[in-house]
Amino acid sequence: MEIKRIAVLGAGQMGNGIAHVCAQAGFEVKMRDIEQRFLDRGFETIKKNLGRGVKKGRMTQEEADAIVARIEGVLDLKRAVEDADLVIEAIPEIVQLKLDTWKEVDGLAPEHAILASNTSSISITQMAAMTKRPEKFIGMHFFNPVPVMKLVEIIRGAATSDETVRVIEDVSHRLGKETVIVNEAPGFAVNRLLVPAINEAIFAVQEHVATIEDMDKAIKLGLNWPMGPLTLADFVGLDTLLYISDYLFDEFKDPKYRAPSLLRKMVRAGWLGRKAGRGFYDYSGEQPTPIKL
Ligand code: CAA
Repeated sequence: MEIKRIAVLGAGQMGNGIAHVCAQAGFEVKMRDIEQRFLDRGFETIKKNLGRGVKKGRMTQEEADAIVARIEGVLDLKRAVEDADLVIEAIPEIVQLKLDTWKEVDGLAPEHAILASNTSSISITQMAAMTKRPEKFIGMHFFNPVPVMKLVEIIRGAATSDETVRVIEDVSHRLGKETVIVNEAPGFAVNRLLVPAINEAIFAVQEHVATIEDMDKAIKLGLNWPMGPLTLADFVGLDTLLYISDYLFDEFKDPKYRAPSLLRKMVRAGWLGRKAGRGFYDYSGEQPTPIKL
């Protein structure tokens, strides 16, 4: 089976990045969101990120324009998926929203289409069960920023067929990504490690083991992480982090996955990280400055 047309559901941080790399790899893309302003914002980000490549002489402005032209912004779900060979969903991590969306998409997408979710934690098997094609359902987990990060974590649900895995591996390689294949389990492979690691850094700050800045400096310079864990927490979004922590805790029933109370308090305050202008750092000035705890 050859994939030519890809529908990306969601034009947010992950959705626009996925649409960008798919169009750059030559696929015809429809990017769908529920309001025009979300589509506009998605296109703006894609153009800005392609502009980085133009500035550095890696592509011409004409090439960047041609990539954008391969993406059609769409509001209507039926129009987005009716001729798709592959649907990649990157809508908010709300279980019921994902289940309802997949049920609807299953009725609208062609029979041959593969359905892939970019969820960072929700069960692939549970979403697949909403469709009449669980063997064609799979997890395709990208990382932020999508155009830069090399990995696609491919997740097999209980019923995912070998053929679906093969096609998705091939598509991911065509996007210039490396892949790992994991069997479904809460947090898959990456977040199972990342989320407890970031949480441990938050516990350390909460217990005054080190300041926010020093904790970041220690891990950045001591472990060669590109960002310290608290900067990374702000980058991922504290709400997302809390959501995944609570999900891991609920699924495993193991206290090692519990979320730090400081993280919960900050989410309740609306300090969601970089996107909110405030998280472990305040982003209102020239340089991010650590907040007072
Ligand atoms: N889109 C496109 N390109 C981007 C970009 C973006 N949003 N952000 C940065 N880049 C490019 C830059 O143009 C630059 O390209 P060149 O090297 O070709 O010049 C390159 O990336 C490096 O960028 P910068 O020099 O501006 O900055 P940096 O060296 O500090 O790198 C970073 C920025 C790539 C984000 C780096 O800090 C990093 O890798 N951070 C960790 C990111 C990470 O861990 N992501 C995973 C989060 S977890 C997740 O996504 C999954 C989940 O389920 C929670």
